[in-house]
Amino acid sequence: MSLDDAEIERLYAYPDTGRPWVRTNFVATLDGAAHAEDGRSGSLGGDVDTRVFHVLRSLADVIVVGAGTARIEGYGPGDVPIAVVSRRLDIPERLVVPGQLVITTADAPADRIEHLRETVDVIALGRGRVDWVAVLAELADRGWHRVLCEGGPTLHGELVALDLVDEVCLTIAPVLAAGDAPRIAHGAQSVDRAMRLGHCVAAEDVLLTRWVRERA
Ligand SMILES: NC(=O)c1ccc[n+]([C@@H]2O[C@H](COP(=O)([O-])OP(=O)(O)OC[C@H]3O[C@@H](n4cnc5c(N)ncnc54)[C@H](OP(=O)(O)O)[C@@H]3O)[C@@H](O)[C@H]2O)c1
Repeated sequence: MSLDDAEIERLYAYPDTGRPWVRTNFVATLDGAAHAEDGRSGSLGGDVDTRVFHVLRSLADVIVVGAGTARIEGYGPGDVPIAVVSRRLDIPERLVVPGQLVITTADAPADRIEHLRETVDVIALGRGRVDWVAVLAELADRGWHRVLCEGGPTLHGELVALDLVDEVCLTIAPVLAAGDAPRIAHGAQSVDRAMRLGHCVAAEDVLLTRWVRERA
């Protein structure tokens, strides 16, 4: 099936829940690798996944991304604000521009927080680890309910462990990778979160899937 952008928008419309909705977006190989041989993921899903990636961005109020992904994938600003999550506060310079955000802990290096605050909006909540419930409330205060998290696996693992992921958009790419790439979520804590299939669409030679958290 070939999909135009309007069909992709329809498939991925955010539900109207009146509360923050955390959607994550990933591509993985058939054997579950979250990146290709070159350490990046962009090339895995081909044209259709790239189009889904951009449509998902256009539907979001804010994009949340781990600093590791932002550094490796060469993130820069776009139409939707990007919030980089970091403890060390080694933020790519391209993202230290007005309109962008940084999410960190209240006990992150104070001089770095102060320096970043001269240019970007810094949300520093939680001690030792980011207080995600408070961060989502803070984003909602800005009118941002449609949260798109683009990973990476470390950040995703933490959000899954906290049961804050409402929806996973996963493109399955026609690639076998082997190797030791991480899967799309990892962390110290192992949890099983039940998900319901939202859609599964074969487009060109990838599978576009969307999974919604089954909450009681
Ligand atoms: N398949 C896909 O769709 C997809 C999507 C995204 C990324 N990836 C791939 O995943 C790989 C990167 O994986 P990764 O797990 O290292 O990515 P990551 O989660 O983006 O980066 C980890 C770093 O982000 C910061 N971070 C993440 N969670 C945090 C938290 N809760 N609190 C504070 N800081 C936090 C820390 O940065 P500091 O070190 O600055 O403190 C941490 O070192 C790359 O190869 C990338 O291409 C694949």
